[in-house]
Amino acid sequence: MKTNYSVIPELLKKDPEMARRMVSAFVAQKKSLLIDRVFHPATTNEMKLIYFRLTPLCNLRCVMCGQRGDKGVLKGSFAAEEAKKVVPLEDYKRLVDEIKVNKPIAYLWGGEPFMYPDLLPLVDYMMDSGITVSVNTNGTFLEKHAERIVASKWHSLFVSLDGFEETNDRIRGAGSYKKVLAGIEAINREKARQGTHYPYLGIVTTVSNLNYKDLYALSEATRDFKLAWHIYNLGTYTNDDIIRRHHERMEGEFGIDIACLPGYATGYNEGIDSQELYDILQRIHSTDFGHPIITVPALKPEKIDIYYNKLEVPVRTHCSVPWTQANIDYNGNVHFCADYNDYPLGNIREKPFFEIYNGERARKYRLALRKSKDGIFPGCVRCYQNMLCGRRVKGF
Ligand SMILES: C[S@@+](CC[C@H](N)C(=O)[O-])C[C@H]1O[C@@H](n2cnc3c(N)ncnc32)[C@H](O)[C@@H]1O
Ligand code: SF4
Ligand code: SF4
Repeated sequence: MKTNYSVIPELLKKDPEMARRMVSAFVAQKKSLLIDRVFHPATTNEMKLIYFRLTPLCNLRCVMCGQRGDKGVLKGSFAAEEAKKVVPLEDYKRLVDEIKVNKPIAYLWGGEPFMYPDLLPLVDYMMDSGITVSVNTNGTFLEKHAERIVASKWHSLFVSLDGFEETNDRIRGAGSYKKVLAGIEAINREKARQGTHYPYLGIVTTVSNLNYKDLYALSEATRDFKLAWHIYNLGTYTNDDIIRRHHERMEGEFGIDIACLPGYATGYNEGIDSQELYDILQRIHSTDFGHPIITVPALKPEKIDIYYNKLEVPVRTHCSVPWTQANIDYNGNVHFCADYNDYPLGNIREKPFFEIYNGERARKYRLALRKSKDGIFPGCVRCYQNMLCGRRVKGF
């Protein structure tokens, strides 16, 4: 299976500057894994990937979503209350001024990032500051903003789609497929009209027991989407035993409760016929759809069964995220872990970012992670960030 590096050769031909930025981020990530976390584990000067979870709000309710799905807690009146805490544009601008020296890649997500009221001016400000901007969206607002997005030459859009129409809508809500399609068409129309290849368009598909049989049909449908990549994310899943062990560890080590991990105990990993999924993925990987197909994590086919059915078995270890990445939450809290934001390092509205990033709480977390078995905590076993950046377990 192809890895996340497989987009580079094509990109090098089309857009050397963008390829250079991506390679620089990959190199920093490898360096942090092999050198920084080993030789100066408490602090770091690398900051290559910064996530912005811009809002707790979303117009969809995808069933497997750790935030808003069946088991998620960021819903209803709680999400509405939390939304009152979103960071104003001026504070984000101050943060961008601080971090721009590192020329990081910014990955904007949520909730649904288009529900952050100042998304468009924020992206403009980031891009004017030399930051590479990727926006991960459910795609339902793209049609409305297509002209402006293309005119501003956003670098890339990661659009979520979880199946061909019927399957997608069962997971992501009625009518969502058609809306996303209209958005993709509008972006492509504007790109042609305005004569630019920005933004690169990619699809992200979260694999579950609800859609795995339908993945080839989805790949077929994407032939006309003019994509730069299609990522099949094998998904974040957990179970009660992992939650219990993670809870004990986090409470014992840091005195914190864990609110986020239980959102991923959805059960949508159960009952996947791993041989059938393997055959479907193989078929997809061996067909030319006109864009690279990337599976995260890239696993040996015979290990897919373990991925879904033995959730406690690590497939990636030695998380390097705290040495090279951070997530800024909608309320300004800084976390290393984008999906499991239970351990705030500090708040960007109260302190300069780099004081937080190398502050006491950050140093404590790095040291604890470094000395933890396999360089991960119990709840980290299917964490998406570690699937992208962690060390491949031998045989996987
Ligand atoms: C939480 S969403 C936020 C951005 C935007 N609302 C969207 O759906 O693209 C970020 C990504 O996580 C994916 N996702 C949702 N549930 C997941 C799960 N259990 N495991 C892995 N990824 C998941 C979504 O499909 C999406 O691609
Ligand atoms: S659109 Fe994104 S944030 Fe909203 S429920 Fe779906 S996966 Fe979660
Ligand atoms: S693997 Fe663990 S420490 Fe690393 S980012 Fe994920 S949750 Fe955080």
